Amino acid sequence: MREKLEAIRRAAENAAKEAIDEKQIEELRVKYLGKKGELTALLKQMGSLTPEERPKMGQLVNEAKGQVEKLVSERKVKLKEKAVELKLKAETVDITMPEKPVNCGGLHPLSIVTNDLIDIFQSMGFDVLDGPEVETDHYNFECLNVPEDHPARDMQDTFYLADKILLRTQTSAAQIRTMETRKPPIRIICPGRVFRADEVDATHSPVFHQLEGLVVDKGVTMCDLMGVLEQFAHEIYGEDVNVRFRPSFFPFTEPSVEVDVSCTECGGKGCRICKGEGWIEILGAGMVHPNVLRSCGIDPDVYTGFAFGIGIDRITTTRYKISDIRLLFENDKRFLEQF
Ligand code: DAH
Repeated sequence: MREKLEAIRRAAENAAKEAIDEKQIEELRVKYLGKKGELTALLKQMGSLTPEERPKMGQLVNEAKGQVEKLVSERKVKLKEKAVELKLKAETVDITMPEKPVNCGGLHPLSIVTNDLIDIFQSMGFDVLDGPEVETDHYNFECLNVPEDHPARDMQDTFYLADKILLRTQTSAAQIRTMETRKPPIRIICPGRVFRADEVDATHSPVFHQLEGLVVDKGVTMCDLMGVLEQFAHEIYGEDVNVRFRPSFFPFTEPSVEVDVSCTECGGKGCRICKGEGWIEILGAGMVHPNVLRSCGIDPDVYTGFAFGIGIDRITTTRYKISDIRLLFENDKRFLEQF
């Protein structure tokens, strides 16, 4: 029995050394230590021994059992370590591999310019407001002193959604909404999209962008208008640019002006961009018409104001020398990636 025990112990030792994975080691454990295992079987044979031999033999079998258990668990740990090592080796990250380029989004040029305009006017103390794109005839035309028979109300210029409901043709509607809800002193801007039924070409789009401005207070004059707009033009185009105020007409301002800057391309000599004029028109403005103030419940004998509407698309195309306005709306990545 002693010899048998020694043989089993040795066989188990060899088998443990040879086991190459956890499955094999588990099989080995069952083979020797399991309920039907060889060492367990040996213990069961103790009955055939003499009472003197039994304790000695029992001790030896238990010792052998302990040794095999130890072997099995040590080998198990080793194999586990080996498996992890192999896995790590197989999965090593090659840090010398070039990284995949990250595609980073950016701001659309119109957004860049709009943000710059907002910064300029905010630094002059203007609040930034928002207005609805779907407007009523009342806000878009009527209160702005645009008479019933004015050509701008024509279906050919305006997108009507229903009777007297339209897509705003100008951000000027924001003036009325502001004066209805705020009392002077008022100093606001309202940037946003506007819509007109224009044919698409290099300089026209049915959707474009304006930034409306409105100042109303006691004693506001044309000088204030000129000072603010001149400073704005210089901040956008630089100190060297010339600014020109031309008399014009808008139903909601009196007097009205249009503001030009010397051509950013040719400096005023005349070129393709300015159509030989040397000047580029960037905005319309004027002193708020007394009728407009009155329609909002503001007494024109006490308060005066000025308003302006800047063409954001025009500022963008001239700043970045973009020759076709359609590029701003096509969302071509190759174009947008340049900004
Ligand atoms: N709403 C005008 C347009 O779309 C631009 C404009 C001109 C706005 C004069 C004004 C203004 O506030 O005073 O052409």
